[in-house]
Amino acid sequence: MSGLASGEEKGENVTGYLDRIGAGLILSNAEPFSYDYVPDLIVGRDSQLSQLAAIFQQIDDHSVSCRVAITGNVGCGKTVLSHVFSRDLQRHLGSRRDFKIVHVNCRNHPSKSQVLQRIVTSLDSRHPERGFGSGEILQSIRKQLQSSREHLILILDEVDHLLRADKGDLLYQLLRIDEGRESRGTISLIIISQEQVLDQLEGAVLSRFGRSNHIRLEPYDASELEAIAKQRAKLACKEGTVPDGVLRTIGQRASETGDARVAIELLENSVKQAEKAGRAEVLSDDVRWQSREIGRTVEPNVIDDLNKHAQTILLALCRRLRKEDEVTTGDGEKLYHVICEEYEFEPRSHTTFWKHLKRLEALELIEARTDSRTDGRGRTQYLSMPAALPGSLEKRLENTLGKS
Ligand SMILES: Nc1ncnc2c1ncn2[C@@H]1O[C@H](COP(=O)(O)OP(=O)(O)O)[C@@H](O)[C@H]1O
Ligand SMILES: [Mg+2]
Repeated sequence: MSGLASGEEKGENVTGYLDRIGAGLILSNAEPFSYDYVPDLIVGRDSQLSQLAAIFQQIDDHSVSCRVAITGNVGCGKTVLSHVFSRDLQRHLGSRRDFKIVHVNCRNHPSKSQVLQRIVTSLDSRHPERGFGSGEILQSIRKQLQSSREHLILILDEVDHLLRADKGDLLYQLLRIDEGRESRGTISLIIISQEQVLDQLEGAVLSRFGRSNHIRLEPYDASELEAIAKQRAKLACKEGTVPDGVLRTIGQRASETGDARVAIELLENSVKQAEKAGRAEVLSDDVRWQSREIGRTVEPNVIDDLNKHAQTILLALCRRLRKEDEVTTGDGEKLYHVICEEYEFEPRSHTTFWKHLKRLEALELIEARTDSRTDGRGRTQYLSMPAALPGSLEKRLENTLGKS
């Protein structure tokens, strides 16, 4: 066995030597900002964890399998709740029952055969990728679990994607896996969805599932989001660099959606913003200036569908806004001319430039703000972009423009 695997088994932080990556004036460890990071504790979901524990109360009995559906809006912590619960359960039960936890995101694996393939390769990494029908794979899964005497906790995340493709067929088969056989308690199921999935299940599936096994998560309020941001700040940032007032601002802003991801992203961007400005402390303004579109990723095809000049203008703004918060429209236009020269085509007129800016604003790719102070030369308009955008769009725009 390799050193890496044995280190992991002992629970050591084997990648600790990488901690300095991404470290800066404020940031000490960027990992807690990554989207699949699972914290040791989750904030404000104690009663839901208790509910889960009640549903899984008898799971240490080898003949028992449990079922639960978790629903709620995006960012209300469904995925992280399932990770934390299954991890804690495994730790708590230790040797009393052997578990295998398999998490499948059905958005990425929406068909029955893809889900089955994910399960079987998680149990046996040497299982061939192709050449087996669903029935055969299901058999292999059962045999694997029987011989290893492991109980499978299967988490089907974003299960609505699977239901759309497969109508609950696979769920039905998984729920029946022990029927009419000697084995019992082979698989426990946690299904997760934004929608009220239980309504979509057919009678035969629903009766095996149990209508009462349903946990509905409400969107977070401002104080919960503040607490979530506080937890991440403590994990990722140096002490004293993110004041309470900033966390409160984050909580308030994120409560417009109730999405914890927005709170974490606002925090991450604020840290970047403060560091870029050479500060060792985050300010509430670092939160406020961020676009309300945060948490909503831009679909890349929005950019691909723009015409060459709009793309060039956007690229000009991206390059400048990586270094600065705002750029005046006048400077924006000059930079646009420079890039036209770089890609060797004639810039369009001032009026057309303006039209493109309006279009980019309507697509929420940029934001415009007019300075109310007049300085004799008329009012100045400033352009900015949502915090994460300039860096992520620049390469894509360069590639597209390079090809045209
Ligand atoms: N109660 C919580 N405590 C700590 N972090 C949380 C909590 N709820 C959500 N998060 C974090 O917020 C982000 C979004 O949560 P996630 O579980 O992915 O939401 P959902 O699956 O409901 O869309 C993740 O990074 C997650 O770790
Ligand atoms: Mg999720």
